[in-house]
Amino acid sequence: MTKITYITHDGTRFEIEAENGSTVMENAIRNSVPGIEAECGGACACATCHVYVDEEWAPLVGSPEPMEEDMLDFAWEVGPTSRLSCQIKLRDELDGLVVRVPERQG
Ligand code: FES
Repeated sequence: MTKITYITHDGTRFEIEAENGSTVMENAIRNSVPGIEAECGGACACATCHVYVDEEWAPLVGSPEPMEEDMLDFAWEVGPTSRLSCQIKLRDELDGLVVRVPERQG
């Protein structure tokens, strides 16, 4: 199990235990973390699962693949550590991951 902390725009923290192999988006939806919409269900085709990866974690999480990068152009207020959360798969080394949810999607 891997712990993830989501921090919503108003500063509320959601700490959850997630299974490796699942995505940051899936766990947000399952645990009703507000602010992540995931309209396309994880197909990298909607950009409504945008999160900001905490800077400390960004190197471990890595950068987006080209397809995700193109889709991020449609996300609202993209920053240097922006990722689409449906494209972040959990693994042991991401235990403790912190992501911030943007004020809105799109
Ligand atoms: Fe649609 Fe991530 S859920 S791009």
